[in-house]
Amino acid sequence: MSVLFATSEAYPLIKTGGLADVSGALPAALIELGVDVRIVLPRYGDLALREDQTTEHVSRIDVLGQPVDILQTVMPDSGVMVYLVDHPTFSARQGNPYMGPDGNSWHDNPDRFALFARAAVSLATAEVDADWQPDVVHANDWQTGLIPALLHEADSIKTVFTLHNLAYQGVFDRSTFERLGLPWSLWRPDGLEFWGNMSFIKGGIVFADRITTVSPNYAQEIQTPAFGYGLDGLLRHRRDALVGILNGIGSDWDPAHDPALHTPYSIKDLDGKAVNKAALQKELGLPVRDDVPLIVHVGRLVEQKGTDLLIQALSMLDQRDVQFACLGSGETRFEQALRARAEADPERIAVRIGYDEGLAHRLEGGGDAFIMPSRFEPCGLNQLYSLKYGTVPIVHSVGGLADTVTPVSQETLRNGSATGIVMDHLDVNAILWAFDAFIRLFDRDDELDAVRRQAMAQHYDWDASARSYLSLYEEITTR
Ligand code: ADP
Ligand code: GLC
Repeated sequence: MSVLFATSEAYPLIKTGGLADVSGALPAALIELGVDVRIVLPRYGDLALREDQTTEHVSRIDVLGQPVDILQTVMPDSGVMVYLVDHPTFSARQGNPYMGPDGNSWHDNPDRFALFARAAVSLATAEVDADWQPDVVHANDWQTGLIPALLHEADSIKTVFTLHNLAYQGVFDRSTFERLGLPWSLWRPDGLEFWGNMSFIKGGIVFADRITTVSPNYAQEIQTPAFGYGLDGLLRHRRDALVGILNGIGSDWDPAHDPALHTPYSIKDLDGKAVNKAALQKELGLPVRDDVPLIVHVGRLVEQKGTDLLIQALSMLDQRDVQFACLGSGETRFEQALRARAEADPERIAVRIGYDEGLAHRLEGGGDAFIMPSRFEPCGLNQLYSLKYGTVPIVHSVGGLADTVTPVSQETLRNGSATGIVMDHLDVNAILWAFDAFIRLFDRDDELDAVRRQAMAQHYDWDASARSYLSLYEEITTR
């Protein structure tokens, strides 16, 4: 089985969120199963290539009259082969892959990702490398949505399209469609057309042989108007091709072997957790106390993640004896409000704005609990990391969060299945309720210890998920 895995980010080369984690880990896990997977990624200006890492020129192709170079290298950790699509609209820009320094999306994103899609199609149809052709192209999110649409006619190549987040759809006006030179046969409601505009994500949803979501629950949710973002009807129509496969945890998230942590620890030896907590409090300038619960958060500061509600809850902590630490970046208004909260309440609240991989690991290692008040969450990775790090997840019961966290209750404490605190609805009071629920749990050493150990005993490694993807590839290629 050979697979071309098309993605707009892949850790450790370039990352803005969970898609990069998945694109780093899933291909590596598939290789372990004997699949010949190769990644195709834009050659951004800011790829974190190792200093000694070489890139080889494979070929120069023509995309609608523009020369595009295809380079080849390997993923720094896993050694998975990567094709890099090199064009100035990618390589001449630094920083975030999707937006400029002013925080606005690049105006030519549709052109960039249409070009990327066409280059991926050239790879898939062996125009680039006559010696290699994939059985399946696995595309991810709107940036790669045109690939299944463009490959639709090529019957020998099957496609899988994974929805990591239905809220980002790549919708542009009709003149963009015209400018991109796409076949007019795609301009129809059961094609790329979406209420008079063009939609990249529809290319994947309409034309892929299989559609996957990153958790089983999200596959159900997006078939309802509340979570479907206008595409629930289409998704219900395609429900026979739609399946949820839960993400896993990459090998770089393991408290027993995590170079970012102060001290390693594991379920067999939990003492190191307290050492990491003290080190984290010190690093963040919080009072170093082991008798106060430290609740942490890492993520994009956007409405999806419930950042607005979290900020409101933080201003209503009253006399609660609790610490809160967070790392994130996102909407300016949220960054500013969080900074202001920390300034107003420095004994309890610490905030770091920016992107910091090491600190993200130390927050998982040193936190007692990790809060994710997401309005929706296709999978969510930090609750999985939290389980593994014995950092009690506090989550809203949506998407993958509901699939992976078992709520603390009298019953689950009795039968030993509790792994976290779950809010069954979401508002400011629910967040304060969850803080209180955790503060109570924190005061009961035995119960906290039991929940922590039960969390750490969960297995969400990539192997099982990779096997599910392989079955899917086999299903569509042997049909
Ligand atoms: P999403 O992809 O919606 O942002 P996920 O939970 O799937 O959410 O994945 C987010 C990933 O990005 C996690 O690995 C998380 O640790 C990481 N992350 C998010 N924000 C930051 C940040 N400011 N610094 C470091 N890592 C971050
Ligand atoms: C998206 C989702 C997140 C998911 C990630 C990786 O960014 O928001 O829930 O974990 O993709 O699949």
